[in-house]
Amino acid sequence: MSKEKNIKIGMLTSGGDAPGMNAVIRAVVRAGGQNNMKVYGISRGYEGLLNAEIDELTSRDVKDIIHRGGTILRTARCPEMMTKEGQKKAAEIVRVLGLDALIVIGGDGTFKGGQSLSENGVNIIAVPATIDLDLACSEYTLGFDTAVNTGMANINNLRDTSSSHERCSVVEVMGRDAGYLALWCGLTGGAEEVLIPEDKNTDTEAVIQQIIHNRTRNKKHNLVVVAEGIGGSVALSKNIEKTLGIEARATILGHLQRGGSPTALDRMHGSVMGFKAVEAVLNGEKNKAVVVSGGKHILIDLKEALTMKKEYDPSMYEMIKVLAI
Ligand code: F6P
Repeated sequence: MSKEKNIKIGMLTSGGDAPGMNAVIRAVVRAGGQNNMKVYGISRGYEGLLNAEIDELTSRDVKDIIHRGGTILRTARCPEMMTKEGQKKAAEIVRVLGLDALIVIGGDGTFKGGQSLSENGVNIIAVPATIDLDLACSEYTLGFDTAVNTGMANINNLRDTSSSHERCSVVEVMGRDAGYLALWCGLTGGAEEVLIPEDKNTDTEAVIQQIIHNRTRNKKHNLVVVAEGIGGSVALSKNIEKTLGIEARATILGHLQRGGSPTALDRMHGSVMGFKAVEAVLNGEKNKAVVVSGGKHILIDLKEALTMKKEYDPSMYEMIKVLAI
């Protein structure tokens, strides 16, 4: 990195928080500071930007945060940023604040907000952070590994009690419309069945048939992971009880799954992505996303990042079915 003078960058976290966001914030502040940049933290995402809630951050402001879940900048969902007027207003605020670049950290909505600002003349560097892993542009999105580990740890606990009672456990995990969290939780937790939005063949009837089949194999308990995008885990467990006469209990992990101290993987990716975002600004890059591709951290065009589509690969689901036998 070359030591440029007088570069001012802003940074915000937006949408759902994700473990690892604080590692990005720390890396941006420290790498920026080392390169004579002034780094400003914008509170509460685009909502805070629209109210010019901004403070300069120095190295000491980001001490003791790498191990903390959530985001010290706080976050929000901002309907105003979905309007043309809101986008213009936000871009004008960036201009008045004199920011040379804005680093936006978040998921799909955050990237779209960033793209709209770039169309209004703001230089955006976007960092993918969402526990849902649903951004096509990056093999990894911050927070996913921590959320999988949280899901797995909870499934371990449920396995203890459900096998003691010979019950069926139905566990609903987050992920919005995507089934990646459910698949990974299902595979690592040793689930018998996983219901995800991407696989149209999985339904209640299939789950019931699977449990009947498992009984003939002398399985004493069953674990069913349900993606949030499918939902209905309470109704499913009642249906299992009614149809099969075995006890079933539903557990919805909800926001428990989004918090918690980031894993080593999330701290690593967060630190590297933050460092690379600063490097991108120093190198004069414009409107880029820092993504993981082919296992490497690279820059791609933000606009292009948003046009990418993620294909569903059924191999993990098929593997879960084989390993559940
Ligand atoms: O996108 C992250 C996520 O946690 C999703 O898995 C979930 O559907 C959503 O955010 C929940 O949003 P909120 O915290 O606004 O209820």
